[in-house]
Amino acid sequence: MLARATRFAATPPPRDLLRDVCVVNLFFEASTRTYTSFALAEQRVGADIVALPPGSSSLGKGETIADTALTLAAMGVRVIVTRHPESGFPYRLAESFEGHVINAGDGRHAHPTQALLDLLTLQKEFGEIAGVRVALVGDILHSRVARSNVIGLRALGADITLVGPQTLLPDAMARDGVRIARDLDAVLPHVDALMLLRIQHERIAPGVLPSLDDYARNYRLDARRLALLGRNAIVMHPGPYARGIELTEDVFAYPGWRYAQQVAHGVFVRMAVLDFLVNASTRDANPA
Ligand code: NCD
Repeated sequence: MLARATRFAATPPPRDLLRDVCVVNLFFEASTRTYTSFALAEQRVGADIVALPPGSSSLGKGETIADTALTLAAMGVRVIVTRHPESGFPYRLAESFEGHVINAGDGRHAHPTQALLDLLTLQKEFGEIAGVRVALVGDILHSRVARSNVIGLRALGADITLVGPQTLLPDAMARDGVRIARDLDAVLPHVDALMLLRIQHERIAPGVLPSLDDYARNYRLDARRLALLGRNAIVMHPGPYARGIELTEDVFAYPGWRYAQQVAHGVFVRMAVLDFLVNASTRDANPA
């Protein structure tokens, strides 16, 4: 998938890769980056696109997921891209949908295309991901981005450290070679890439977050902490970022800040996923 995305980034593919293929974007949660990125990717491979913004589908009127899937399939929809606050929603949808379902983020469970675009960003930077020292910082517990990244990074042999306070990063998350650290300052000199995460307020139970002041004091990336990073270290963030909480504006002037590259890579990764699903796989042979 990364190779396909890299090819698309180098040379735009023909705009008819998904000609006559209808894609529905079914988003039940706010989204700027992921939604726009999927929509652009769909346009660039020439799909027919229908967008169902939050609140406008009949699921709110009591229609079941299975009935929605049946209805969309009957109209010839081949791909559904979906984001939902419930973990597992895309998988339930996929059970009753004939075509392909792409998970654009489900609850705190997974965000696979975000992980792919992050991996592409790391690959472009370091050539290969094996052995690259990556630290994910912040609200790991509630982050679907972190969960999907850990899966991808492990598969490609990165050296992974999770950094955060106990309440947002329980000890139990250390396993299978994934390290946990509490002291960000001690980790900074030893990483090649730092992935900052947003605090997922909408998913945090009351009392779990100590205090934002505390959090910022211990984990916010600011000028002093940037100076602790190695010379070629990069800093990433999936967005949206909260200025003053997980980072200060000093980060935007740091030469290794890769946020814009991540966003740009997202379009190519999503084009690659669409092309792969529709043109290079059959659902039975390759359920990915
Ligand atoms: C993330 C998401 O929605 O999971 N954003 C994104 O897709 N780029 C991260 C977040 O909301 O913090």
